[in-house]
Amino acid sequence: MNISVIVLAAGKGTRMKSRLPKVLQPLAGKPLLAHSLASVAALKPAKTVVVIGHGADEVKAAFASDASLDFVVQSPQNGTGHATAVGIAPIADSGVTLIVSGDTPLIKPETLANLAALANEKTFALLTCVVADPTGYGRIVRDAGGEVIKIVEHKDALAANDQATLAIHEMNTSIMVAPTAWLRDALTKLTPKNAQGELYLTGVIAMAAVDGLKIATASVEDETEIAGVNDKIQLAALECAYQHKIAESLMGDGVTVVDPHRIDVRGKLSCGSDVFIDVNCVFEGDVTLGDNVKIGANCVIRDAKIAANAVIHPMSHLEGCVVGEGALVGPFARLRPGAELAQDVHIGNFVEVKNSTLAKGAKANHLAYLGDAKVGERVNYGAGSITANYDGANKHKTTIEADVHIGSNCVLVAPVTIGAGGTVGGGSTVTKSTDPGALTVGRAKQISIANWKRPQKAKK
Ligand code: UD1
Ligand code: MG
Repeated sequence: MNISVIVLAAGKGTRMKSRLPKVLQPLAGKPLLAHSLASVAALKPAKTVVVIGHGADEVKAAFASDASLDFVVQSPQNGTGHATAVGIAPIADSGVTLIVSGDTPLIKPETLANLAALANEKTFALLTCVVADPTGYGRIVRDAGGEVIKIVEHKDALAANDQATLAIHEMNTSIMVAPTAWLRDALTKLTPKNAQGELYLTGVIAMAAVDGLKIATASVEDETEIAGVNDKIQLAALECAYQHKIAESLMGDGVTVVDPHRIDVRGKLSCGSDVFIDVNCVFEGDVTLGDNVKIGANCVIRDAKIAANAVIHPMSHLEGCVVGEGALVGPFARLRPGAELAQDVHIGNFVEVKNSTLAKGAKANHLAYLGDAKVGERVNYGAGSITANYDGANKHKTTIEADVHIGSNCVLVAPVTIGAGGTVGGGSTVTKSTDPGALTVGRAKQISIANWKRPQKAKK
């Protein structure tokens, strides 16, 4: 069955009290709308139309790189039925159309596929959920035979003091699949005769019943899957529920997550066996942790590949980097984009590494900076030493060959090469490349004055 999709994302999201449009508010590091779109994309629809309105330019710009989306603007925003009518315009008549809200981020692709499988040219498919507290939601009204006959919005049931309807716990998730040609026609017949004076999409259900379409329903068990996000409290609650699911799935795969309430994954985290993650760690983008990797408390790790047996000690910040097997990093280390540590490299506290490779066994254990550097095997890089890689206009490269020993507090002024096996004395400023095996000392020569008398305090 040919399936098209309309994503409703034009609403203002007034209750967010934010300048950022509701569908761009982030959940697990991605806009709400990106989550719904990812689920929808799994159905491989013929067309996906996103109805935008409030903050239209911003929403469009956020998804500009996705060529599979068609954007249509709804202005003014006169209700979900009006939004659907605007959205259906570019869709061809054959097949069925799935309608989802841009503010229901955790809907699973399987749920959408199962619902779509129920629909055809003569069957309307509606996703419902029985919830403990249906306040605010549209209610599914069924006849004595259990067939759906209409949806009544909460506000309308209240206005009519319709207690029987208000007592219904089966709610409209706003996710439905309708025969496209029929839906296009039905949408033209909606009227704003309701409590909100809007065109309700839900109004088409009663029409489907009258037109003799079969109304099939599917139900979701897990409320978080269909939860709509309207304010920051719901956003935080959903973030929490989502993170807990990720933690459970990691633990299900054998990862030790010390406290599943204190981990945040904003992207994709892939773990080998026996990975240990201490509390308060944040993983962003694409992070891979090899077998037996240990992540200490309070680390922030973004777009990183960390090989087996590596240990990232607490309070470390890693971004765009590669950490080799058995390497030790931190505590309080910072690996910036382009940092590549080979096997058994040690990066200690208050060491910053940017766009630099460190070969097997190299060590920078304390208070140091390595930028645009190539560091050879077994190099020992002393405390307080830095590569002066930037001349105010351009970046230059420092090469430190294998087995070099750089003392403490050295400044290596790039471009410069320290030859293999060389030693640089503490406190040196090195501006010229050095030969292999050489000792280099680039500092004022020490003088000592024998029996020197310190100044005395003047007598009053
Ligand atoms: C809607 C349903 C309700 C359902 C609930 C589930 C209607 C009339 N009501 O109510 O039955 O239980 O969702 O969460 O459909 N939108 C537009 N243009 C508009 C108005 C809304 O694009 O003119 C978009 C919003 O951006 C949002 C979605 O449609 O993504 C739903 O709108 P919202 O105002 O949140 O509807 P609810 O009151 O939640
Ligand atoms: Mg809503």
